[in-house]
Amino acid sequence: MNNKNIIEQYDILASVTSPHSFTVVEAHGAGFKDETGKEYVNLNEINRQLGYSNLHFTKMMKDCLDSAAPEKTSQYKNRLYHHIVETTNNDFQKILLTSSGSEAVEWAIRVSRKRAGRYEIVSFWNSIHGRTYLASSVSGNPVRKTGYGPLAPGIVFAPYPYCYRCQFDESPDRCNFRCLEFLKQKIKSESSQGVAAVIVEPFQGAGIIFPPDGYLKALREWTAENGIELIFDEVQSGLGRLGHMYEYQRLGVVPDALLLGKGMGNGLHISAMLLKDIPDADPKIMTGGSGDLPLSCAGACAVFDELRKEEILDNVNQVGAYWHEALTKLAQKFSCIGDVRGRGASFAIELISDQESKKENNRLREKVVGQLQNHGFLPGQWHSSIILRPPLSITHKQAEDFVCCLERILDIEGI
Ligand SMILES: Cc1ncc(COP(=O)(O)O)c(C=O)c1O
Repeated sequence: MNNKNIIEQYDILASVTSPHSFTVVEAHGAGFKDETGKEYVNLNEINRQLGYSNLHFTKMMKDCLDSAAPEKTSQYKNRLYHHIVETTNNDFQKILLTSSGSEAVEWAIRVSRKRAGRYEIVSFWNSIHGRTYLASSVSGNPVRKTGYGPLAPGIVFAPYPYCYRCQFDESPDRCNFRCLEFLKQKIKSESSQGVAAVIVEPFQGAGIIFPPDGYLKALREWTAENGIELIFDEVQSGLGRLGHMYEYQRLGVVPDALLLGKGMGNGLHISAMLLKDIPDADPKIMTGGSGDLPLSCAGACAVFDELRKEEILDNVNQVGAYWHEALTKLAQKFSCIGDVRGRGASFAIELISDQESKKENNRLREKVVGQLQNHGFLPGQWHSSIILRPPLSITHKQAEDFVCCLERILDIEGI
């Protein structure tokens, strides 16, 4: 039995993950080559911020494995903490390294509850916070929850500001954040008035949805006025994906807890919860995790080293500016594109049946993505959107080739 068959036969995820399984013979940045010589660009890879075969990352792995004598094991954690503290300008005074984003989410919620002496959590429709029990309970994604009840109690959901499909038929320039008023109303009428925290992604990574300017600032003000903690889940928005280190810094909104993960280890399991402080008794129950293993810390150090050199962030900003312009032009040319949204290395191209009804066109999305895959481009998908979340080392040429390929496909589809 070859490797492909055994995965297809035994892997629980085989039927739901990409039908493409590759024997990769060469990989670099966002691209790789299979055994037939065919080249691919991975446009949906949030676990590898630096991409494949990054020389510095590989060297750090090797150095760490060669030198992992027990007395030296904290050297990488030490370096990593310097990176985190310096890049967050000391906005947070306590750090817990965890092994997954879900684990960081769980701890942030538990700590906020303990500190507040209240237990209710506010979260948002379409959010993704993880796969474990509490993390999936606070996620606004029905697929992960259906049939798995009872879910964790005490969670109030509100619509995330998805302006292209506003729940209130408003437009962001004149809505006065009606959805935020609705959130407050929901809490008033649905909760026991014991909200400990609001957990929110500064942009929703699954659907690449950005709140309108000022929304998160208004949310910060309201939470602060009401003694409610604000948890920013920057597992996707942090560490360069949007063209700067952290989204909270661009927004000028400092949350009470900041969560990092995914690309932080460039493929290794490491994530982090950053807090302003922590109740005295809590560290005792947090011991025993495996988030701070030397190899993972070394991997995360390599990611920070590279991001702090700034060439990668410059690249993300250039690719993002190009995609914004080129994809907006495509949206003007093809009426099947309802919305193009994104920044940096995160874009969504939402396909619709017609401009008036904005009906999601999943059939077209499936067809277009299938053809993109045949041409070697591997994007993600969310509802009727084509999702682009490549490694941050994607080249301008790869970004351009993707747009040309998409245009050719849409030209042939004649829409
Ligand atoms: C924003 C966000 N938070 C948390 C998580 C959970 O992270 P993990 O899969 O590492 O548990 C994810 C996973 O995709 C995510 O996108």
